Amino acid sequence: MQLKNLTLAALVGAASAQQMMNLTATLASNNATSNLTTFFGLFPELTRTLDNAQNITLLAPSNEAIGALLEAQPELQQETDLLRAVLQYHVLNGTYLSSAITNTSTFVPTLLTNQSYTNVTGGQVVQAVNVGGNVTFYSGLLQNVSVVQPDVNFTGGVIHVIDGLLTVPVNVSETALAAGLTSLVGALNNTQLVGAVNGLSNVTIFAPNNAAFQNIGSAVANLSTEELATILRYHVVVGQSPLYSSTLENGTTVTTLGGEDLTITLINGSVFVNSAEVATPDVLVAGGVVHVIDNVLNPQMSMAPNASATTGAPAFSGATSASEAPFTSGVATPTTTINPSEAGAGAASSTSSALGVAMKTGAVGAAALFGAGAALLNY
Ligand SMILES: *[C@@H]1O[C@H](CO)[C@@H](O)[C@H](O)[C@H]1NC(C)=O
Ligand SMILES: *[C@@H]1O[C@H](CO)[C@@H](O)[C@H](O)[C@H]1NC(C)=O
Ligand SMILES: *[C@@H]1O[C@H](CO)[C@@H](O)[C@H](O)[C@H]1NC(C)=O
Ligand SMILES: *[C@@H]1O[C@H](CO)[C@@H](O)[C@H](O)[C@H]1NC(C)=O
Ligand SMILES: *[C@@H]1O[C@H](CO)[C@@H](O)[C@H](O)[C@H]1NC(C)=O
Ligand SMILES: *[C@@H]1O[C@H](CO)[C@@H](O)[C@H](O)[C@H]1NC(C)=O
Ligand SMILES: *[C@@H]1O[C@H](CO)[C@@H](O)[C@H](O)[C@H]1NC(C)=O
Ligand SMILES: *[C@@H]1O[C@H](CO)[C@@H](O)[C@H](O)[C@H]1NC(C)=O
Ligand SMILES: *[C@@H]1O[C@H](CO)[C@@H](O)[C@H](O)[C@H]1NC(C)=O
Ligand SMILES: *[C@@H]1O[C@H](CO)[C@@H](O)[C@H](O)[C@H]1NC(C)=O
Ligand SMILES: *[C@@H]1O[C@H](CO)[C@@H](O)[C@H](O)[C@H]1NC(C)=O
Ligand SMILES: *[C@@H]1O[C@H](CO)[C@@H](O)[C@H](O)[C@H]1NC(C)=O
Repeated sequence: MQLKNLTLAALVGAASAQQMMNLTATLASNNATSNLTTFFGLFPELTRTLDNAQNITLLAPSNEAIGALLEAQPELQQETDLLRAVLQYHVLNGTYLSSAITNTSTFVPTLLTNQSYTNVTGGQVVQAVNVGGNVTFYSGLLQNVSVVQPDVNFTGGVIHVIDGLLTVPVNVSETALAAGLTSLVGALNNTQLVGAVNGLSNVTIFAPNNAAFQNIGSAVANLSTEELATILRYHVVVGQSPLYSSTLENGTTVTTLGGEDLTITLINGSVFVNSAEVATPDVLVAGGVVHVIDNVLNPQMSMAPNASATTGAPAFSGATSASEAPFTSGVATPTTTINPSEAGAGAASSTSSALGVAMKTGAVGAAALFGAGAALLNY
């Protein structure tokens, strides 16, 4: 009896072990992903590493997604450094079955650690969340993909087939420009902080939208360069892991680059930073994360929000609005955009990211990201 059971168990074990293949064999044998092996063929070392890796999750672009990419950007096949980084960004550190991805966002580290592409310690992240039953991953510039075939098991973990490619997050200034945050980009340029901000590691940036700057136009009109720089530094947090929305707890205080603190408050599902409301959370950037906010923060006036606040409040008392968004004169038209017309549509977009990867646009918040900015730019 015992022997019989043991033999049966051993047989079952052997059968399932036989079915379980390594990564490349699994991809090649799956009709949805067979063409991905061509990509992997360009990186024999990485492929060997992944074939032998344990406890990983591959987000595998479908044959259709790969085909669309190569049609749009055939020259990408020559950009091996970039492609290697893109592949690494599609590998999550850990085995995440689709059932583990819930309607609460998690920020999962990938194998992308190359400092030419990321300054997030422990690996650049993707945002994983279940949106109305669809397992969804957000990447740079809020570009998102959906899982079309979940939970394909292989010897080292699990594969989810996705309907597009993830976008490796780009730097703060490119992201801000693509999001229409031209006042912020102009202000960073005028204070010569662009290079410094783009080079920060593990950074969290609370990025005021154009309306935020415009609303306090009289207060920013006559600031000295140093005064403006002091205000901008009050929007930047470093020295700890990036503060993704999932880590923002009620009452948390965080210390900014200038040394002054900011206070996080949660009210009715909204997140406030001092008295400013987060309009669009979790825009991933090369060095960390950007949260777009609806007011400019003031280090000399760290106000709490009203307990019943439904929107942010200005922190510059007596300031009046300007007729145009400040600091925008001469700011370049973005070469890449988060296209508001696609927002919520979930449709494939012709918009190219900085990586030349045709992608869908973020269904969440892209319109809010644009806000007043879109009207000021002539795309
Ligand atoms: C993966 O499996 C295939 C097919 O069994 C085999 O040819 C290949 O050598 C394996 N790769 C590694 C790294 O073991
Ligand atoms: C995969 O494609 C092959 C060849 O086109 C076909 O014979 C096979 O039925 C397909 N398998 C599935 C699961 O669609
Ligand atoms: C997969 O690759 C083959 C060979 O290059 C190609 O003929 C086919 O169209 C590709 N499939 C898709 C869906 O793009
Ligand atoms: C995966 O994460 C663990 C910590 O959770 C870390 O020790 C390990 O080095 C990471 N693996 C890779 C390949 O980055
Ligand atoms: C798999 O990776 C995750 C994330 O790094 C880690 O928490 C977990 O302990 C690992 N599991 C195994 C069995 O190594
Ligand atoms: C999120 O999931 C939980 C548990 O499945 C459920 O109770 C809750 O209603 C969901 N929330 C939303 C906003 O879908
Ligand atoms: C889920 O995905 C399906 C297929 O792509 C789509 O039709 C549906 O609208 C999506 N649902 C949500 C809530 O995004
Ligand atoms: C992969 O394994 C998990 C559990 O480890 C299981 O729930 C899932 O059904 C498996 N996937 C397939 C396609 O068999
Ligand atoms: C990472 O930081 C270094 C040093 O500041 C910088 O040179 C590099 O450009 C940054 N990497 C990215 C992807 O922004
Ligand atoms: C990034 O943050 C981690 C903590 O998550 C820390 O250990 C590391 O030293 C930081 N790196 C830099 C360059 O700030
Ligand atoms: C957060 O704290 C404030 C008091 O500082 C309180 O009014 C508010 O209800 C708290 N929010 C949550 C979600 O607990
Ligand atoms: C950026 O700042 C420099 C001075 O540091 C100035 O010459 C240039 O016009 C500014 N460019 C933009 C787009 O604001």
